[in-house]
Amino acid sequence: MVVLGIETSCDETAACVLAKEASGFKIFAELVSSQASTHEPYGGVVPELAAREHLKNLPIIVDKVMRDADATWADLSLIAVTRGPGLKGCLLMGMAFSKALALVHRLPIIGINHIEAHIHSARMDNPELDYPYLCLVASGGHTEIVEVKGLGSYSIVARTMDDAAGEAFDKSAALLGMAYPAGPKLAALADTHTKSRFSLPKVMRESEGFSFSGLKTAVALLVKREAENLNDGTVRAELCFAIQEAIVDALCFKLEQAIKRTGIYKIALVGGVSANERLRKKVGDLPQVELFTTSKNHSVDNAAMVAFLAAHRFERGEKLDWRASAEPRWPVEIL
Ligand code: KG4
Ligand code: ZN
Repeated sequence: MVVLGIETSCDETAACVLAKEASGFKIFAELVSSQASTHEPYGGVVPELAAREHLKNLPIIVDKVMRDADATWADLSLIAVTRGPGLKGCLLMGMAFSKALALVHRLPIIGINHIEAHIHSARMDNPELDYPYLCLVASGGHTEIVEVKGLGSYSIVARTMDDAAGEAFDKSAALLGMAYPAGPKLAALADTHTKSRFSLPKVMRESEGFSFSGLKTAVALLVKREAENLNDGTVRAELCFAIQEAIVDALCFKLEQAIKRTGIYKIALVGGVSANERLRKKVGDLPQVELFTTSKNHSVDNAAMVAFLAAHRFERGEKLDWRASAEPRWPVEIL
């Protein structure tokens, strides 16, 4: 089975051609076009601009990925597209484009849940990873710990009540004057240090789910207090170190709670924030944990995970009715 995957849920236009065979799967080609430079002047993703960029980029990216894969339309068995959750206008671009391709080339189409695709990206990059496992989905829009019992069988163990972990990185970095996309810049500067004169409160000890609002306030107060020293490279790096430690500590604490509650020690880290080296190290160091991570290009948004999951769902006979629309809010536990 050869699948063309398309992902446009936020600010990345991505496409992939992937083959699934009895022995496993093979990625023939994958591409991601980032819109970072479009959104940088605004300090965050502007949904309308993101949708327009997808409209412009989709034909270029899809044409190129097909050529890179040396694939013809006749080689394809299926078109897979992210149906939700995400920015409505962005999802609609991907859906409309994919439906048009499917109708013209007489191919079946399947609509994929973006979070479920992240969850299975861990299995894509680690074929030995069996169910059940605990999956920390940490991205710019989502933070949740999911007990993955099988394909389509998920229980939410903890989810965020306000900001996502990626937003905590991005907003803290913005307070330090870093340009969008700022989270990875904060992480890179933090990694140049091994200690900090600053400390932030340990958060989320009481609550059930994740909440980053208290930490955000503490970071804002700390940055304000150090306003006059922000041009000092060491101070900046130590602030980044303290912020990264606080976010990573909160994620680890919640993972430990989830392990205790479920008795599951297989932990998968997925989503953009899972590219964070400090997080990978600290989760890997938790007692008895068996850690599964993805390649860095599969941590952030990509179309390979969409095509991979679609191949498995298509095998179960699933297809998208061409009249179905995007699902900007689509909780993974109802799948
Ligand atoms: O999964 P993703 O590409 O897009 C969404 O679905 O949101 O995640 C993007 C998020 C951003 O908030 C970005 O700051 C964060 O992932 N991120 C990181 C790192 N790389 C990306 N956060 C911390 N450390 C990193 N190395
Ligand atoms: Zn994502």
